[in-house]
Amino acid sequence: MNDIGLYGLGVMGQSLVLNMAGKGYHAAAFNKFDYEKTTLPFIVKRAGSLPVTGYRTVEEFVSSLARPRKIMLMVTAGKAVDSIIEELIPFLEEGDMIADCGNSYYKDTIRREKHLAEKGIHFFGIGVSGGEKGALEGPSIMPGGNKAFYEESFGNILEAMSARAEDGEPCCAYIGPDGAGHYVKMVHNGIEYSDIQNICEAYFLMKELLGMGNEEMADVFASWNEGRLNSYLIDITSKILRKKDENGNYIVDLILDEAGQKGTGKWASMEALDMGVAAPSVVESVLARCLSAMKQERLAASSVFPNEKIVDVRDKEQFLKDLECAVYASKIVSYAQGFALMKEASEEHDWNLDYGRIAMIWRNGCIIRAQFLSRIKDAFEEESLSNMMVSKEFIENLKECEPGWRRTAASAIAHGIYSPVIVNSLLYFDGYRSPQLPANLLQAQRDWFGAHTYHRADKPYEESFHTQWEE
Ligand code: 6PG
Repeated sequence: MNDIGLYGLGVMGQSLVLNMAGKGYHAAAFNKFDYEKTTLPFIVKRAGSLPVTGYRTVEEFVSSLARPRKIMLMVTAGKAVDSIIEELIPFLEEGDMIADCGNSYYKDTIRREKHLAEKGIHFFGIGVSGGEKGALEGPSIMPGGNKAFYEESFGNILEAMSARAEDGEPCCAYIGPDGAGHYVKMVHNGIEYSDIQNICEAYFLMKELLGMGNEEMADVFASWNEGRLNSYLIDITSKILRKKDENGNYIVDLILDEAGQKGTGKWASMEALDMGVAAPSVVESVLARCLSAMKQERLAASSVFPNEKIVDVRDKEQFLKDLECAVYASKIVSYAQGFALMKEASEEHDWNLDYGRIAMIWRNGCIIRAQFLSRIKDAFEEESLSNMMVSKEFIENLKECEPGWRRTAASAIAHGIYSPVIVNSLLYFDGYRSPQLPANLLQAQRDWFGAHTYHRADKPYEESFHTQWEE
């Protein structure tokens, strides 16, 4: 009998099967189409002597599994997940489990969990981060579903498959019920978007304002990687900048500046707007991709409004120091927004998310992996922390970074260099630490045209007021 089944032998699915089999679990592998073209060659060429068996039919696949049956799906998010669930149901029994490891929308996961719970079948929504290599060698895993089932029958397999942090801890932990795992993965991706955009802005400012070449910029990123910005994304950035093609041309210079996106960053932004959580660094990083994709329009507009860059950077060394501060502070602020979003969702859905634990399982395996995440865990050890920015862990960093961050943002604005994450992270910081904002006037306007009422600073909050503004 096999310990676990994997449905979907795309690149990610194959990597997960090899990972679980490499940990000694007997794995059943199934792909809906092309047994001869997909499953067989995979078993013969890739699985080799590992304990993996491929199956031709769903029935054979399911009946090869030990009870309670555990089936992981690694298929494209969306309708395919629903149709596979329906395909599997007739062969499953009460107590069995299906786990969706794709980037599914968490509301779909909540719906599917309910649907299967009515039949006594467990459903897990699992966030898996780390790409193909991570899936093979150890990803960061964010499982959401039934806690008892996780602890008794499933957690040990997932934890064995996951990456290990420096201290040996698995980068996998139970996240919460129903959609919690996919929610946390969505927020991970929102943060991933802003981390990426933040780095891209630093690259662009060095290139456009300092006129630096790829090797020199790669050196800067490599040196940042030795310090507090140390992370997978900074590391690959410095390597990308040095990479040349067979003709000796830098590949990065040949890539069209049009960003793609599959939707998880957009979902995170939509969630933020839906829940009234300010997350401008995440939202702006999605918008930056949208704007980049309008290449033809940008080209046309650039001849209407040419950017006459009068670059006046006198002290390059200082500029680079400031830039490092800007990137670091913007990073703290982006993560603060992601965690604020999770906090709101946890209250809304009663998920009881453990923020410190989430930070810990992102330390390795995933795209945003970095030592920085251990500091986030320390920050959340503080009692009833309202926002990561005001934790003892980060206050001094933000204070120390603020002048350089401000100079960098001012330079970007002054020279017309589009830097939405650096600038808007600073604006969020400024808004968050303002004791007074002009919303008093805003409330008066709303009350004028819509009788929306307002609260008064000098009266109990429970009371609402309306003014007859026009005589
Ligand atoms: C990960 C990644 C992974 C993938 C996303 C991002 O954590 O392993 O987030 O899920 O790279 O699909 O995709 P887009 O940039 O295309 O939206």
